Amino acid sequence: MAAYKRLRIVRTIAEFRKYLKQWRLKEETIGFVPTMGYLHDGHLSLIRQANELADHTVASVFVNPRQFGPNEDYAVYPRNEERDGQLLDEAGCEILFAPSVEEMYPDGGVTKVSVPEIGDILEGHYRPGFFTGVATVVTKLLLQSLPDVAVFGEKDYQQLMVIKRMVKDLDIPVRIEGAPTGREEDGLAMSSRNTYLTPEERKIAPVLYQTISQVGEKFRAGERPPELIQWAKKQLLDAGFDKVDYLEIRDAEDLAPVYDANRPARVLVAAWLGKPRLIDNVAV
Ligand code: PAJ
Repeated sequence: MAAYKRLRIVRTIAEFRKYLKQWRLKEETIGFVPTMGYLHDGHLSLIRQANELADHTVASVFVNPRQFGPNEDYAVYPRNEERDGQLLDEAGCEILFAPSVEEMYPDGGVTKVSVPEIGDILEGHYRPGFFTGVATVVTKLLLQSLPDVAVFGEKDYQQLMVIKRMVKDLDIPVRIEGAPTGREEDGLAMSSRNTYLTPEERKIAPVLYQTISQVGEKFRAGERPPELIQWAKKQLLDAGFDKVDYLEIRDAEDLAPVYDANRPARVLVAAWLGKPRLIDNVAV
């Protein structure tokens, strides 16, 4: 068993609530960072941001079966609770909520939270049910913890927008904050799934960020879809990516297609490189 400076690991909703309630009664604020674990510096930057925003930081590690498709990697998703605990402790997190699947979904749990429209496009189109799985578990986690603020990464930009919309629609009394994408030195967005890349693929992977950054620059300089998008997809395939699910310039808020540079926009991409499917996005 690892010894932690401050971190406490709790496995039940009742215990999680008990600790948070003690702080709430003292009017001390709570920042929450939900994760699926196998933490990297991108996750830890969310912890540091939560430390800035609230008196106490808490995190969850729960590999949520509901957001994995039947042919996706739920069974082999990387897990290492001991290391996650160590990293969270060092980053200043005070509670790690690490429930079992049975604790989160006793009797199966039939109720679902779905966010149509913004949750149906892009990732939602290629991973049917994904955002319903995410929205359902995030709703549960937010209602279990009732934090003042919850921090999500811009790495999963559409997820951040879906969660903001859901919290607004359902009047969940939590402030949602976005955090910038943590990247490796060569620009590759940090991801637990990067561990699936072979050394050869790892060398190709940074082309994803390079390409969408160039799309942003070219868009600002006046280049437009469809030629700009065709150029970018070809660049990815030429570099060695196997397949591009989508590469699009969208409105930064509702993710509707945009063709003029007057509104804030976002370049979003999902592409396969060997086993993993990588996603990334940049502001235009
Ligand atoms: P997970 O992929 O573990 O990510 C947890 C949080 O860390 C998310 O808010 C994600 O956007 C953020 N994150 C991941 N990589 C990042 C990076 N390189 N830079 C900045 N932030 C990064 O996203 C999920 O888990 C799940 O869908 C979850 C929200 C926990 C619901 O199950």
